[in-house]
Amino acid sequence: MIARILPFAVFVLNCVCHTPTQTFAYAPADSSQLLSEWLVQNGGKVGLEIGAVNAEGLRGAVAARDFEEGEIVAAVPFNCTIDLASQEAGDTAAELATNLLRMRFEDPEIWAHMEPHRASLPGRDQIYNKYIFQMEHLPLLQDPGMESLITRVMEWLDEVYTGATTVEPQYRFTSLAHHPGAADISREDFAYYTSLLDSYSFSFPADESHEARRLMLPLLDLINHGGQPNVALKRDPESSCYVAVAVHPIRRGEEVTHLYSWSLERNDKALLNYFFVQDAEPPRLCAMDLPGVSVWDTVESPPADHELYGPGAPLCIQEEVNRLRSILVMFPTGEDQDAALLESGELSDWRERVIVKFRMLRKRALRLTMQGVQAALEEAAQHTGPRVVVPIAGATCFQQACLE
Ligand SMILES: *[C@@H]1O[C@H](CO)[C@@H](O)[C@H](O)[C@H]1NC(C)=O
Repeated sequence: MIARILPFAVFVLNCVCHTPTQTFAYAPADSSQLLSEWLVQNGGKVGLEIGAVNAEGLRGAVAARDFEEGEIVAAVPFNCTIDLASQEAGDTAAELATNLLRMRFEDPEIWAHMEPHRASLPGRDQIYNKYIFQMEHLPLLQDPGMESLITRVMEWLDEVYTGATTVEPQYRFTSLAHHPGAADISREDFAYYTSLLDSYSFSFPADESHEARRLMLPLLDLINHGGQPNVALKRDPESSCYVAVAVHPIRRGEEVTHLYSWSLERNDKALLNYFFVQDAEPPRLCAMDLPGVSVWDTVESPPADHELYGPGAPLCIQEEVNRLRSILVMFPTGEDQDAALLESGELSDWRERVIVKFRMLRKRALRLTMQGVQAALEEAAQHTGPRVVVPIAGATCFQQACLE
């Protein structure tokens, strides 16, 4: 494993993952038209239309016609993608941004060739994530630990930008600040590209002939995440394309989605990486609220909450009720107050609303999990007479087996 001091090096290693999901509307219709034309000119295939996919104007991709299972829905030629780094390097988005922006000087032709892709991506006021978090938004999280994580991420961005960080040789990157001709890249430019790469680059797994890479994949980066995806992304050396293949029949007009990371199931991960939250039913605990798990941990396929906390499950114990309660009582406001704040219309900024919704859902998941465990323990006590406390060692073994 790559041992880095930074806690946020690599989130998911073995899946095709990124996040194209937009939190709000924007529809540069012309830009997606130009993008499609450009891809087709270079030998690609585009069976998708880009547009609003829900009532709030979320941007996404819909099928332009019916597709059979196994058919290629979109194909992006290798020469219309950007290979940023080996996945092995474990580069952060800031380092990937350095690699990307260096192309401006080192490969001006490729930079110019990729212009239709840049034009299709969200603009500076349309993207938000941990690299461009605003200081005034931090207290809304109501979690000093999360605040300091995000602050550290933003410090890292500065260090990469200025070239101040002392890095181990295998992770050495050339800072833009030390690159002749890069003086016109401002910190704001750099932060924008870093936030883009945090959300719009892909970790593509290795196959027989190819090592795992970090990439930018035009068009495919506009496909939203879906828990029940209808396409899978593949590298296809025969056609020299990255392709989206239908995994079951797709009807014309249906939204096309792919599953790019299980981590979206947990709202702290989704918020920090992608700046959106999901109101799952039943609500799921944040990764950081599981015992011994940090928000930066990379877990391939974590057990579901009911496998952890359901009746008889390893964490269905009184100690866990106490631990979850100790997290819950830290928050200065309750779920109801958060809900009232969201409904009051006081929060004019969409980003503030996402953060308040996040903390509300976090508290709800904590409360419901606690209540569920409590009820299961009481039920068990009734059947067995005196209370049987499952030893906590079981929980520890479980974590080591499943969460390492
Ligand atoms: C990309 O490759 C295709 C053939 O595979 C070719 O027709 C096209 O001109 C290439 N584009 C660039 C910019 O090299």
